[in-house]
Amino acid sequence: MNRIDVEKLIQAALRAREHAHAPFSNFRVGAALLDTSGEIITGCNVENATYGLTVCAERVAVFKAISEGRRKFQAIAVAADSERFTPPCGACRQILWEFCGDIPVYLVNVRGGQSKFQMKDLFPAPFDSRQFS
Ligand code: THU
Repeated sequence: MNRIDVEKLIQAALRAREHAHAPFSNFRVGAALLDTSGEIITGCNVENATYGLTVCAERVAVFKAISEGRRKFQAIAVAADSERFTPPCGACRQILWEFCGDIPVYLVNVRGGQSKFQMKDLFPAPFDSRQFS
């Protein structure tokens, strides 16, 4: 992935963050997933008054993408407004691993900071379908 593609993905995550529904935590997150055909699918966190039904931006993006027939992904960007970057939570790591495998994860904040991880480093020793074979 070249720098321009990464920058486009990051901008999409930052824009998606603006749609966050986060009245309870006030912590707004955006995610942008790049599929192998170059399409970007975005998501934001969607909170609920029961708290537990809240869905993170990353899972919203993955489930939107899957429901639109997309199956292969090459990268994800996650945007939040915190000094420390916001890596995917445990539940999102399981889902990202299952549908995206070892993709790069770009973490950004609205102040222009940026950091990059590989999924295999964020989610070592995963439980996945290889368990059954
Ligand atoms: N959140 C995300 O959307 N993605 C993450 O990677 C971490 C947490 C959301 C869930 C909740 O709406 C808020 O951030 C605070 O936890």
